[in-house]
Amino acid sequence: MATRNIRTLGDELLRKKSREVEEMTPRIKELIDDMFDTMYEADGVGLAAPQVGVLRRVIVIDVGGKKKAPICLINPVIELQEGSQITSEGCLSVPEISGKVERPDHVIVKGRDRNFKEITIEAKDLLAKALMHEMDHLDGIMFVDRMIEEDKPEKEEADKKGL
Ligand code: NI
Repeated sequence: MATRNIRTLGDELLRKKSREVEEMTPRIKELIDDMFDTMYEADGVGLAAPQVGVLRRVIVIDVGGKKKAPICLINPVIELQEGSQITSEGCLSVPEISGKVERPDHVIVKGRDRNFKEITIEAKDLLAKALMHEMDHLDGIMFVDRMIEEDKPEKEEADKKGL
């Protein structure tokens, strides 16, 4: 069990695009294990590799709470997104800020699992939102970029913090 430091807003690495994983290696497996440990330790429901300083297309999610429904997705790609939900979001890389973001409420995402086998995940509501939020991180996008205008106080605070 090992946790890694979580990068926070203002860190330039969070704004970079992550590279695809070409094959499973002990190093990537260790990264995934550490990402789960780091996420659970921080009481988060999702984490993307760039948040721990690694520019690889790897995300972990557990919207069921601690170790109830762990999902690891490598090289995730959106196959379908539809509908809309506007809900409050937060991020382990943006402490003390939350705000409303519009996301699709139904998505189908393809990628690879921890064993590098192809998987397809169909998700609604909270899981759909978590998938979109974490996938954004792989392209250097933070939820505060997508925050809707009526949450302006939070947006201004985010701007002050260097967005
Ligand atoms: Ni996040």
